[in-house]
Amino acid sequence: MSKGIQSQEHRFSRRGLLKAVLSLLPLVWGQGFSLAAESGGKTLVLYFSHSGNTRRIAEMIHKRVGGDMVELKTVKPYPQDYNTVVDVAKAEQQEDARPEISTVIPNLDAYDTVFIGYPNWWGTLPMPFFTLLEKNDMGTKTIVPFTTHEGSRFGRGIADLRRLCPKARILANGFETRGKRAHKAEKDVVAWLTRIGMMR
Ligand SMILES: Cc1cc2nc3c(=O)[nH]c(=O)nc-3n(C[C@H](O)[C@H](O)[C@H](O)COP(=O)(O)O)c2cc1C
Repeated sequence: MSKGIQSQEHRFSRRGLLKAVLSLLPLVWGQGFSLAAESGGKTLVLYFSHSGNTRRIAEMIHKRVGGDMVELKTVKPYPQDYNTVVDVAKAEQQEDARPEISTVIPNLDAYDTVFIGYPNWWGTLPMPFFTLLEKNDMGTKTIVPFTTHEGSRFGRGIADLRRLCPKARILANGFETRGKRAHKAEKDVVAWLTRIGMMR
């Protein structure tokens, strides 16, 4: 057999293998990786956002997964000035504060899957999430975390979520992006939702 034919055969068999793998993908996807198929229930997108980055991602997710969306709000709004809010948030964390929240989640029991989105504040979730998650038992729901940040990614947020929601199933591969990229993250969000089986 000439070298040319050999390498062509090699290419054919590679293509064949690739085709076989691709043809199996929907099967694997449908059986093992579809969160939606596993939970089958209603979805809630729950988020906090101070300057709008996390809200952008929450809206992108909500557009694709449907269900309901709730913004976590405090009774006393955070100052708009960046340096001031940084100080306030630091003090809250040092005091292990539970800022009062005005958010009520109607009919929490109806949701099987809760996307939880937060801006990384001093390495973890903003303290209002601690208030909310201590008041609202997530039980055995599936929690899908997402975050915006300026370099720290999820920080200690996932570990804190585990402590706050000890019985919940917390997805390991949540979505993260830098805050300033949030407005152009739609493609990445869609790719991620597809990977985790949450695209409608
Ligand atoms: C109070 C405060 C603390 C922050 N701490 C961190 C941090 O520890 N690590 C990090 O990467 N980004 C930190 N950031 C940047 C934010 O996570 C980032 O800008 C995020 O996209 C803001 O989201 P938002 O627009 O939804 O509020 C902090 C921002 C603020 C206001």
